[in-house]
Amino acid sequence: MSAIISIASGKGGVGKTLVTSTLAISLQRHGYSVLAVDADMGLRNLDLMFGVQDEILYDAVDIIKQRCLPNNAILAVSPGLDFLAASQKHTWEKIDASSYQYVLEDLAEHYDYVLLDCPPGRGQAYKKAVAIADYIFFVVEPTWTSMRDTSRVMQFCDKHKKFNYAILLNNFYQPSDAFVSVRTMLDMLDPEHLAGILPHSDVIQRAAQQGTLVAVPESNPFFKSLERTLVYIKKGTELPISDLEALLPNAPDIALPQEETAISEDEIAVEEGSALTKQNIEKKSAGLSLRQRRQESWSWRRYRR
Ligand SMILES: Nc1ncnc2c1ncn2[C@@H]1O[C@H](COP(=O)(O)OP(=O)(O)OP(=O)(O)O)[C@@H](O)[C@H]1O
Ligand SMILES: [Mg+2]
Repeated sequence: MSAIISIASGKGGVGKTLVTSTLAISLQRHGYSVLAVDADMGLRNLDLMFGVQDEILYDAVDIIKQRCLPNNAILAVSPGLDFLAASQKHTWEKIDASSYQYVLEDLAEHYDYVLLDCPPGRGQAYKKAVAIADYIFFVVEPTWTSMRDTSRVMQFCDKHKKFNYAILLNNFYQPSDAFVSVRTMLDMLDPEHLAGILPHSDVIQRAAQQGTLVAVPESNPFFKSLERTLVYIKKGTELPISDLEALLPNAPDIALPQEETAISEDEIAVEEGSALTKQNIEKKSAGLSLRQRRQESWSWRRYRR
């Protein structure tokens, strides 16, 4: 029986697309057939992680609108791993959620797992994207903002009695002053289910940029950590946290802001001379030729468009 898993988050930019692509690769490597679907309508990115951006001719909305057959829109990333692009023209507001659900449920029959890379937040787009899912994984990064936003989406799920979700920590480090640690995050969120703890990985980040994730070996610590998520998906077994913590890298040294240094009187004089006072602005404009002033105004208008 196939399962549809939505990869979602409260805050944007926490690694949903990266987790969707790597989890799809990991499942495929373990012998499962997977369809990875970009559900971030209007802002698609999953194609870049798989390196198939130049092969997209049709997308999910083309299937819904019967402009093509599913086979025309689905791209093979590697044997057993297929990909369906999000529309770049249509946003979720313009997509009929039940038609989308109908198409995906039909496609899901041909795969062991369908993974949906969702838009962030709790808006209409997110609601439509997760409504289809059998399970939701909320991706959390080691920041306070991510923690707060995750707690909000968890409350939202509990309120709407959507209890089939788990937390997936991503981009974590060994405890440090710069990032929220695994233990603090788990203490604060107190999730009922933890689907995994994934380390920050420079190798993964580079491969994601280059669209070469499928070439990263299984022995990479990120993929090793993902194997525990596979166990969670298959058996629902909770994870031994200390084993996963051992795979986390040390946090980078982040320089603290320099102490304010005393400003000399000369510097104050320069500051005053360059301040945006009416006199100074007039002085500056007077120094520009009519042509330069027209050019500046034109560039500004073009920038604002
Ligand atoms: N574990 C990780 N190690 C290294 N880099 C990571 C990790 N997770 C995510 N990143 C990087 O963080 C950036 C944001 O990731 P991604 O695009 O997957 O986030 P997202 O949640 O899908 O964003 P959006 O909400 O905009 O769709 C990317 O450059 C990605 O490569
Ligand atoms: Mg994304």
